[in-house]
Amino acid sequence: MSDASANIPHYDVIIVGAGAAGLMCAITAGQRGRRVLVLDHANRVGKKILMSGGGRCNFTNLYSTPENFISANPHFMKSALGRYTPWDFIALVEKHGIGYHEKKLGQLFCNESSKDIVRLLLAECAAAGVTVRTHSPVRIAQTGEPYRLVTPQGELSCESLVIATGGLSIPKMGATGFGYELAHSLGIPVQPTRAALVPVTFDGRKLKQLQDLAGVSLDSVTAADGVEFRENLLFTHKGLSGPAILQASSYWQPGQPLQIDLFPDMDLVEHLRAQREQRPKLVLKNLLGERLTRRVAQRWCELWLENKPLGQLSDADIEQVAAHCQPWTVWPSGTEGYRTAEVTLGGIDTTALSSKTLACRDHPGLYFIGEVVDVTGHLGGHNFQWAWASGYAAGQYV
Ligand code: FDA
Repeated sequence: MSDASANIPHYDVIIVGAGAAGLMCAITAGQRGRRVLVLDHANRVGKKILMSGGGRCNFTNLYSTPENFISANPHFMKSALGRYTPWDFIALVEKHGIGYHEKKLGQLFCNESSKDIVRLLLAECAAAGVTVRTHSPVRIAQTGEPYRLVTPQGELSCESLVIATGGLSIPKMGATGFGYELAHSLGIPVQPTRAALVPVTFDGRKLKQLQDLAGVSLDSVTAADGVEFRENLLFTHKGLSGPAILQASSYWQPGQPLQIDLFPDMDLVEHLRAQREQRPKLVLKNLLGERLTRRVAQRWCELWLENKPLGQLSDADIEQVAAHCQPWTVWPSGTEGYRTAEVTLGGIDTTALSSKTLACRDHPGLYFIGEVVDVTGHLGGHNFQWAWASGYAAGQYV
């Protein structure tokens, strides 16, 4: 270190971003005896944890596997996920006496509040001797060991610099492009980013046709780009949401359709043929309403189908019904974007990072963890699992 830097407070590790990944990395490094400082520009830590899971934080998923993640390199996350499993985080939750339950599909939620998870992380940070500072925007003044940072509290230096600033979703909560911008400035490749786990929107005629169905929820198998999700969809004032749509949105590209099977587990053509024999006087709207709700069945008949008694349906009519329901093919005009997206697809290109340590190959001492990396989980606790696992992995090496 030069004379000029002799008076600058020095840490072994500085982590930028006190979210899920940053705090987990801090705990792991602190437990190894490293002198760790976490800096966040927001007025409190873990804001996304607090708002997650409807206030109850879906903190992991019992069935989290690499197949639940999207990345240009589908193997990259395997190493970290294998070394910090959902059971490791569950053990931490149990150690802190936090009640939790499985909602569905392996999704674990706090019984009481997301605040319990933030308290857990801060308690573990305190026990590991980690310093956490909020209201601390950061400028990086020097890259390379030692790294030098400028903060409102003055200059700092560190041996390892960890970028855990997350993605672009929900700017109101403090999301910034800090990690991507730093990468660009250092020539580190970044996979294109876009909003994911996000409602899709309609415009023009389609919006008018469907807008007043807002609030109706239906079972579905929703597919985008050939990837299917069996979950509920929800009509909204702007388009479609609900878990099926959020999941599919991560695979949807502008200009592409969504294929929505509104009669999962059923061959609709066969069903209609059988019902034509068994209940010939029943009108189509009422039959469809048994699955689609009365409002949706009514609208489908107004828009696309003739509301005849089943006995009068020709085979061609039946094919026509199936063509609008199994699947119902819709062409969204866009998504609600980062304003409401749960996550950001893309990010720091994994070719630049070690999958074991999350360290930058060409920049010794620099690490990227969590959502800022090009690893995006499905809905259901997988994104936090990646944050814990990547934070833990880097925390062992910083
Ligand atoms: P995260 O975004 O958590 O943290 C980044 C931190 O960096 C923030 O504290 C931010 O203030 C700070 N920061 C940003 N820029 C900075 C800068 N320039 N200088 C200093 N600090 C900076 N996932 C899941 O698994 N289960 C769930 O239930 C949910 N629910 C959910 C709901 C909603 C509404 C959203 C928006 C997201 C979810 N998610 C989720 C996704 C999950 O919240 C997300 O993937 C993780 O929080 C990512 O963790 P990170 O630590 O990488 O980033």
